Amino acid sequence: MLSGKTILVGVTGGIAAYKAAEIVSRLKKLHAEVHVVMTDGAVRFITPLALRTLAATSVHTDTFAEPKMWNVEHIALAQRPDLILVAPATANTLAKMAAGIADNLLTSVLLATDKPVFAAPAMNHVMYHHPATQANIAVLKERRVRFIGPVSGFQACGSEGDGRMSEPAEIVAQVREYFQPPSALNGKKVIVTAGGTQESIDPVRFITNRSSGRMGYAVAEAMRESGAEVCLISAPTHLQAPSGVELTPVVSAQEMYQAVLSRYDRADVLVKVAAVADYRPAQSADQKIKKTGDQLTIELIPNPDILAELGKRKRGQILVGFAAETERLIEHAMEKIRRKNLDMLVANDVTKPGAGFESLTNIVSFLYPDGQRKDLVQMSKIEIARILVREIAELIEKK
Ligand code: CTP
Repeated sequence: MLSGKTILVGVTGGIAAYKAAEIVSRLKKLHAEVHVVMTDGAVRFITPLALRTLAATSVHTDTFAEPKMWNVEHIALAQRPDLILVAPATANTLAKMAAGIADNLLTSVLLATDKPVFAAPAMNHVMYHHPATQANIAVLKERRVRFIGPVSGFQACGSEGDGRMSEPAEIVAQVREYFQPPSALNGKKVIVTAGGTQESIDPVRFITNRSSGRMGYAVAEAMRESGAEVCLISAPTHLQAPSGVELTPVVSAQEMYQAVLSRYDRADVLVKVAAVADYRPAQSADQKIKKTGDQLTIELIPNPDILAELGKRKRGQILVGFAAETERLIEHAMEKIRRKNLDMLVANDVTKPGAGFESLTNIVSFLYPDGQRKDLVQMSKIEIARILVREIAELIEKK
């Protein structure tokens, strides 16, 4: 049930707009409070009256109309809902969303919102596969817009192909699932580590690595979406912590070690995405090291292997590691699974284009102690994170 949830349905101008009536009606039957914003194109396919009759609460079409319910309506419409669903989402509206254009009420609302946005694209298959549309979808996915469909099938123009809007029942099911994740992770305590640790040389210098923290933050976000209580232990990054996640900032590997170990006994799952420095300077100078013109040698000593220590102390927790490799990926990864007593390892070859530290996308393989292996295609880090979370939920169910 969706009682207590407010959903804004954005309807744009494609033939699938008539299906918005069923979407609105289904949301209403689940007791959601539904508001609708229609573009001019949508109004040509289906009347606001039809949606008002079904949605009951309000239907908006014009940015400059007298406010119906709130003072600055596009801001109120952007802030009030718990979720915004654009269905159907035409190629044109997706392009405006990707470019940040706000030339009608719906696109203004979408630019003014920080709420979760779902989009159910609907368009002709050539338009869907056009590089412009695909690039827009990739940009929006990276910005956390969640896509439902499209699916393949008969199209209104008479052809067959990708671009049909998903069925209203499926769209509403995914909205419902977002609020009530069926996952085995619901209520579970999950620790995620992220970022690259910094090992101090002196007060102004440190050793670190190329980790951006994106993958770890995406895992924390996907875990929270599936109902887990998430503690994100993060080395310094430029990222904002996903909302609803408890952030524990750390700097060095030793700090991360302490932060993780003090929480480990109470945790159900630990996903160690952080790129932990294997070595640190033997001494961190109190004052800035001055140049002398001579060679400078910094002695490095090993850091604790946090994951290996967790593997030793494991008492029923699901332990997931990440491994960035530059050669012999699978061989090295399988060795890490055994050595660190892991339930699963996510391995990626950081030398591949589209994979690794600074990239927005990644190409990973999931590996298991029994030698099983699943290879994923290149996708955004949040998509990988959601698939990983589903895998971890399955591991919990099997236990
Ligand atoms: N890891 C850790 N503590 C360390 C080093 C690594 O917890 N001191 C964790 C990472 O968070 C990651 C996994 O171990 O989940 C694999 O990290 P990686 O650097 O690939 O493995 P190493 O054991 O350090 O092996 P190597 O650097 O030799 O490849």
